[in-house]
Amino acid sequence: MEAFRIRGGNTISGEVQADGAKNAALPLLAATLLTGQPCTIGRVPDLADVRTMRSLLTALGTTVEANGATVALQTPNITSTEAPYDLVKTMRASILVLGPLLARTGEARVSLPGGCAIGARPISLHLEGLARMGAEIKIEHGYVVAKAKKLTGCRLYLDFPTVTGTMNLMMAATLADGVMIIENAACEPEVKDLADFLIRMGARIDGAGTDRLVIEGVPALSGAHHAMIPDRIEVGTLMLAAAITRGDVTVTGLHPAHLEALIQKLREAGATVDVTGDSIRTRASGKLHAVSIRTLPHPGFPTDLQAQFMALMTVTEGMGIVTETIFESRFTHVAEYARMGANIRLEGQNAIVTGMDGLSGAEVMATDLRASAGLVLAGLVADGETLVRRIYHLDRGYEKLEQKLGSLGADVARVTMAG
Ligand code: EPU
Repeated sequence: MEAFRIRGGNTISGEVQADGAKNAALPLLAATLLTGQPCTIGRVPDLADVRTMRSLLTALGTTVEANGATVALQTPNITSTEAPYDLVKTMRASILVLGPLLARTGEARVSLPGGCAIGARPISLHLEGLARMGAEIKIEHGYVVAKAKKLTGCRLYLDFPTVTGTMNLMMAATLADGVMIIENAACEPEVKDLADFLIRMGARIDGAGTDRLVIEGVPALSGAHHAMIPDRIEVGTLMLAAAITRGDVTVTGLHPAHLEALIQKLREAGATVDVTGDSIRTRASGKLHAVSIRTLPHPGFPTDLQAQFMALMTVTEGMGIVTETIFESRFTHVAEYARMGANIRLEGQNAIVTGMDGLSGAEVMATDLRASAGLVLAGLVADGETLVRRIYHLDRGYEKLEQKLGSLGADVARVTMAG
């Protein structure tokens, strides 16, 4: 099993380029199931989750060819409508094939993902929405079995602005009869990016990026090319790496508007964040102050940066509160930070963090993707050596993070451990 061995204490500096967004790549790849014509997607990151999505699409009848970061996909015919448990259990985002399969073929059999380390993560809103569009949905032997002769647009209010739920319903609605209105839709940039791709394929979508989507169904979609948005969570992680090491890092090729909440919180903590065009320079020196954050749907502070921001708070001056409102158990990193000497008290959905003068390197265990990134950040500032085990979680969503950090002067090595 692979781990990261980090020797902490280096101040990092320099310039790095952002990769394409994992959480945009997965729905974009799934959306190509909606047409028989060829599609190409640019800036696709080379990540474990992207490879899993490619395997899933191949099993459904898609030919997939990668040429560097550009991936060409075509599904002349859907040869299977089943997303098997083996693939879905390694990547919950496999559920994103449900909407496209149902819209294109009238049926889908997709394994239920089950819970995960950060929460129960039900998909009831995806299923209720599809049922409102006329699908017959049953749960059989751990699978969602969905059938619909023809989906029909309707007016739908989402009880929560679920990200992949909004995506699934938007994709299904592109080929439905009539008009679909989704109220309280997710506003995440990845939803807007998917809508932009669907529009290039011929879909009629208004309101992408807002909480009200209007989708007028069309009889068929065509092939299209789309270069996806940069990964705001990777960028945010690198900005926090600069802040935690009191370094000076410029990340290029990004959309600053996607990172507004983080930029403001970093400034509030005392870091200097300069935005120029498509790049952000983050600098810090001396002690930063504690600030509190509350995770919320976009444009609120992203839950996917909560663990990394908390790593910074473990070494700021004073006390701050991290409130997690999106997932009920996204605090597994707290016990690992404590092994490194952090002072954090958990009270329900709040983590009360009192900053320390420093952390001490330790052997720790990654428990999910973003928690792993937080542990890496903690390792960068800790005294001595930190070993972050189970780094396969990190590889799901960060492309060669150790090389990017290494190019900025961090001492991070990928090592193979027994057991
Ligand atoms: N929820 C329901 N019912 C539903 C759907 C969601 O109650 O039918 C609840 C969830 O249990 C959760 C909340 O709503 O408490 C938010 O879930 P959402 O559906 O928005 O999350 P998701 O679509 O499963 C995506 C990202 C996550 C990211 C969240 C929130 C992808 C592939 N995944 O998940 O990314 O944390 O939105 O922004 O886009 C990650 O990259 O590390 C990651 C976990």
